[in-house]
Amino acid sequence: MASSATSNKNNMDDRVYDLVVVGATGYTGTLTAEHIAQFLPTNTKWAIAGRSTGKLDELAVKLKKLSPDRVQPVAETFDLSDERALAQLVGKAKVCISVVSYWQVGEEVVRACVASGTDYVDANGGIYGLKGWIDKYHEQAVARRVTLIHACAVYAAPHDLLTLLLIRELRSRASVQTRKVVVAVVGTPMGISGGTADSIMHDATSSPPDAAAKLQNPWILSPVPGITGGSDDRTDVFGMYSENGLGLLSDTSYSAAQDRHIVHRTWGLLSGSDNGYGSHFQYREYSRAESKISGILKFLTALLTSCVLRFALLRAFAKRFVFPAPGEGPDVKQSRLDRFTIEAVAVGEPEGAQGKAAPRAYGRFTFHGGAGYLCTAACLAQGAATLLSGSRDDVTSGHQGGMITPAFLGAGLMERLCKAGGEVEVRML
Ligand SMILES: NC(=O)c1ccc[n+]([C@@H]2O[C@H](COP(=O)([O-])OP(=O)(O)OC[C@H]3O[C@@H](n4cnc5c(N)ncnc54)[C@H](OP(=O)(O)O)[C@@H]3O)[C@@H](O)[C@H]2O)c1
Repeated sequence: MASSATSNKNNMDDRVYDLVVVGATGYTGTLTAEHIAQFLPTNTKWAIAGRSTGKLDELAVKLKKLSPDRVQPVAETFDLSDERALAQLVGKAKVCISVVSYWQVGEEVVRACVASGTDYVDANGGIYGLKGWIDKYHEQAVARRVTLIHACAVYAAPHDLLTLLLIRELRSRASVQTRKVVVAVVGTPMGISGGTADSIMHDATSSPPDAAAKLQNPWILSPVPGITGGSDDRTDVFGMYSENGLGLLSDTSYSAAQDRHIVHRTWGLLSGSDNGYGSHFQYREYSRAESKISGILKFLTALLTSCVLRFALLRAFAKRFVFPAPGEGPDVKQSRLDRFTIEAVAVGEPEGAQGKAAPRAYGRFTFHGGAGYLCTAACLAQGAATLLSGSRDDVTSGHQGGMITPAFLGAGLMERLCKAGGEVEVRML
């Protein structure tokens, strides 16, 4: 990287923008820009960046109409093949939100942020791709004190934050470490965007042959290995089981694997610190089954989806006739009427005498501001605002940079989400 594009974190006051949204013209990027226009302080200096001047101009008009009395974003065009120019562009901002198609061009933005000392937030939950980024850039980011928060989206920010809050509740109320957190995703699955469908298809077809086997290891993103097995949540033949406090659950949550990898990375990054979760900790995620019948239907739907992803002909059919094209996604008006809700139970290490019940805490997070991608837009924009405010959570003590997780924005991010349509409840059972 040319030295003129390289700067460090001491020159933050010289930066032209507080925020830049790279990939602002995509489906998620547009919703994120709209969230910034509606919820972030009106004097925020920001830019929307993309490869198409026409699309950026259209978006700028839309944003002005949405919120005319605020500082309007500057439109910045970039060409990702020009590495130096990209580093100069993101280096104009204190924080970069990346909402590009990650498997195609995400790494270029990460590299530019590390080089220019620009803090960064993304919605990337593609575990195999993230593993590659972490292996390449985590140490560089630590050395440069650049913070990169990944998966700060509907998958996996609420799960990672609620886990953190429940573990704190158990620690402060019952003075115990946590053995497991079980999350139940409530409600029906939301629609997906073209960009997400594209990522899923890419992961299904282009990952190396041993990728699936490697991803079976739930600690692949954690810097230290955790325990495997020993879990007491055994499912039946239809993937169902009951958890005290959560009811009947179905092992069909679409985001279970990716959320588990992210929460386990948080666990690994915190292990050995005063904020550690406990050496026997494991995260599990299910979807809520309203009844045995609905659980069986969920199971069959998940089976069908995995068949579609396994066979090339079915994948091609789904891409052509079922999934939206890149740039498109679920109807936003309808999404605003829907809600995203997760419930969770944290189970402590058994206290004192054998046979004594382990303490349990219950948590619930609802995003009333809309389902799926609207929640992602809020997580990205409010995550960036938390980074900008400099008010990191105390879990970040000892973490001055690196490729970390939404939990590191902690209670500060949860508070901001709650002011933008979220609601959280945490209590002992
Ligand atoms: N973890 C989660 O919960 C979560 C939630 C939402 C989204 N996501 C992820 O977010 C990503 C974006 O999703 P999306 O639905 O918003 O996708 P999208 O609508 O297709 O948008 C992709 C963006 O990337 C830009 N882009 C693609 N190739 C480019 C290139 N060669 N040069 C410059 N820009 C390029 C596009 O620019 P143009 O507009 O010019 O085409 C667009 O701005 C996906 O990877 C998706 O999986 C994750």
